[in-house]
Amino acid sequence: MTITVIGSKGGQLATSLMNLKDHRLKFLGRPVFDFTDEASFQSVFADGKPELLVNTAAWTAVDAAEEHVKEANQVNRDGPAALAKLCAEHDVPLIHVSTDYVFAGDKGAPYVEEDPVSPQTVYGRSKAEGEAAILAAQPKSIILRTAWVYSGHGKNFVRTMINAGAKNPVLRVVSDQIGNPTSSDDLAWVIMQIADKVLKDGWQDSHSGIYHAVGTGDASWYDLAVYALKEAEVFGHKMPEVQAIDTASWPTPAKRPQDSRLNTDKLHRVFQLRFPRWEESTKKAVKEICSV
Ligand SMILES: NC(=O)c1ccc[n+]([C@@H]2O[C@H](COP(=O)([O-])OP(=O)(O)OC[C@H]3O[C@@H](n4cnc5c(N)ncnc54)[C@H](OP(=O)(O)O)[C@@H]3O)[C@@H](O)[C@H]2O)c1
Repeated sequence: MTITVIGSKGGQLATSLMNLKDHRLKFLGRPVFDFTDEASFQSVFADGKPELLVNTAAWTAVDAAEEHVKEANQVNRDGPAALAKLCAEHDVPLIHVSTDYVFAGDKGAPYVEEDPVSPQTVYGRSKAEGEAAILAAQPKSIILRTAWVYSGHGKNFVRTMINAGAKNPVLRVVSDQIGNPTSSDDLAWVIMQIADKVLKDGWQDSHSGIYHAVGTGDASWYDLAVYALKEAEVFGHKMPEVQAIDTASWPTPAKRPQDSRLNTDKLHRVFQLRFPRWEESTKKAVKEICSV
């Protein structure tokens, strides 16, 4: 019984899945499989049919996507749609990962899965269109929308803050954007819980669709930075002064949602799954970062 994961050790989520050391997981990433290389799609079923496919790969450079529309669409929309079509042809269920950036961030309350998408960026639009294309091509798909992903490995906000704090006495961090910090290790665990259920019980049509899958509790980037830096202090890192700034003081090419909190009740209702609180998981990630 195998589960093919699209993604390689350059990816945060793929690495979290690799760290589980589950012998059923087989990883397929660049250069063998590349969403921009149609011929490489043959590699997905080259060694036989997996029981399930998990796609962790994406164009995640949110700002660069504004200038690379074609590439972002290829990796986040057209490639995953072609993969979903292939899964449908082989009758293989698909778990795919999407983002809170499909929303504008102006609801003023946590988004539920039924809220209409309203992406404000090339990245968000490519992911939103990817979701729709996947569900149209392979109804046996589960799409997990996550957000603010960090881990003890790879490039992420928590690591960036710890590195920046080691070099600078003062850090300025945006405090008027809120969301749900999510550990990629926790997301990997949730993916495997869902995979196990699908493999054990068989596919159920009621499972098809979109789920919000983020850490429990919300925070601003400022809150997350201060929490991570205080934890890093325990490991001998200097605590810099952290100044709260507003979004206007930190302009980026791609507009960030002001409030992209996601309601995760559906994940709990359907799969009885809940993520740990973000503080608990941030503590673990900081420990990993500081122990290297
Ligand atoms: N990071 C976040 O804060 C965040 C927030 C919301 C949603 N998400 C979603 O969560 C999922 C996992 O994100 P992550 O944090 O693990 O991302 P990541 O660390 O940036 O990794 C992206 C992965 O995608 C692969 N990839 C990129 N272009 C590819 C292509 N053309 N063909 C095949 N593989 C390609 C990369 O391969 P290489 O190793 O070869 O570069 C890498 O393994 C993605 O769907 C992302 O959209 C992430």
